[in-house]
Amino acid sequence: MRFAITWFKCRDGRDYIVVCDAPNACFNEVTGRVALRRRFAIGAIIMAKISYRVRPETAVLTKGFDPALSVGSARPPVYRSSTFVFPSPEAAERAFAIVLGKISPVDEDRPDLIYARLNHPNAEILEEQLVPLERGANFAAVFNSGMAAIVTVMLSFLERGGSLIYTQPLYGGTQHLIHQIIEPLGFVAHAVPAGNARALSEAIERCENPRLVLIETPANPTLMMTDIAQAAAAVRRHPKRPLLAVDNTLLGPTFQHPLTCGADLAIYSATKFIGGFSDLLAGAVLAVDPELIQTLTGMRALLGNILQADECWILDSRLSTVALRMNRQSKNAQRIAEQLAKHPRVSRVIYPSLFTDPEQIRIRDAQTDYPGSLVSLEIKNGKTGAFEFLRRLKIAKNAVSLGAVETLVCHPMTTTHSELSAQEFAAAGITESLVRISVGTEHWRDLLDEFSRALDA
Ligand SMILES: Cc1ncc(COP(=O)(O)O)c(C=O)c1O
Repeated sequence: MRFAITWFKCRDGRDYIVVCDAPNACFNEVTGRVALRRRFAIGAIIMAKISYRVRPETAVLTKGFDPALSVGSARPPVYRSSTFVFPSPEAAERAFAIVLGKISPVDEDRPDLIYARLNHPNAEILEEQLVPLERGANFAAVFNSGMAAIVTVMLSFLERGGSLIYTQPLYGGTQHLIHQIIEPLGFVAHAVPAGNARALSEAIERCENPRLVLIETPANPTLMMTDIAQAAAAVRRHPKRPLLAVDNTLLGPTFQHPLTCGADLAIYSATKFIGGFSDLLAGAVLAVDPELIQTLTGMRALLGNILQADECWILDSRLSTVALRMNRQSKNAQRIAEQLAKHPRVSRVIYPSLFTDPEQIRIRDAQTDYPGSLVSLEIKNGKTGAFEFLRRLKIAKNAVSLGAVETLVCHPMTTTHSELSAQEFAAAGITESLVRISVGTEHWRDLLDEFSRALDA
């Protein structure tokens, strides 16, 4: 008899080894039953042929895809098919009935693939491989941008008469989305200053029907941190039990783990650190609870914003280097930030290792492992000083976005956050002298020379 040993990360955060006499076995952690998984035939299955616990860097290279299932190919194929052939009309009927919730899968079997707007093999492989990178996560859903992930979360979990509570600042696009789409649809949105745990708890408590609390921490571009665990406690105290979603783009998945702090959803612009090379747009949401991801994938099928097969394939090749890149970028940024803090033309450097506010220091120490690679500078002489600095850059690129291997620098007030009102700029602490640097993997001394030169000139 042939035994298969399969490793599963379960809802309670522990890892289980399942030994079974069927090679395509899968273990349902909710029911505790072992069943056969049909998708084995195309490789999108949790199948790690290891009988001991592995760390995320290893899991990301061993989960999600088994080369033996694709003629020994070391990398998964790209399944560029918009539709999938059913083995019989009954199978087609059954697949639709499962997707529409009319029947439940039998024996934990997965329904047949139907159509690539609903799901496709490369999305399944990527989602399986993303899970080990996010501490505490069991399930993931991928989207065709970070904004697609965020809007899908909002439309899935805000219900009629429900409120959204969010910390400010947020990425400018998210803020714009709230004003342009969410509020006109009739949802009430309450902004709370980032970093103010008491104000956030009170806003949640006072709200009659909060459905979703969205935190971006550290906030883009002021790096203000919000206490995830306190927010998680506040949502659990409310009788309506709103969901807590954390936009973890700036420090995750390597340096901050919202799900272990009690958040329900970790949201990403995977365009940033996860993608890492400024060559694709992608988004992801991870959760402990399978039902939350099921709700999101249902909405994703209607909105048509699943990540396409080619992008999934590119993105899954980047996962094994996320931690390597982020560690290098964070080390670079810390060296640069601490040096630039002494420069006479810089009035303020905003960077986690340079925080002075005791509450911000407490949150930083409680929920982040390393300071990350975003550095915001306030340069003397306002907008003129900031623009002169940008004009003199030769190695770093004057571009929006962040998290790439190349250093990117922008002026948030006139670019990424330009939709904000004067009051929102004031509340968010975004000034005209602020430039945001996303430090890449170049040699830090070259970057420091470059920034010093651009400031000195
Ligand atoms: C914190 C944060 N969240 C979400 C987004 C949106 O992501 P995307 O550009 O992939 O849609 C961005 C983009 O800059 C961001 O910085």
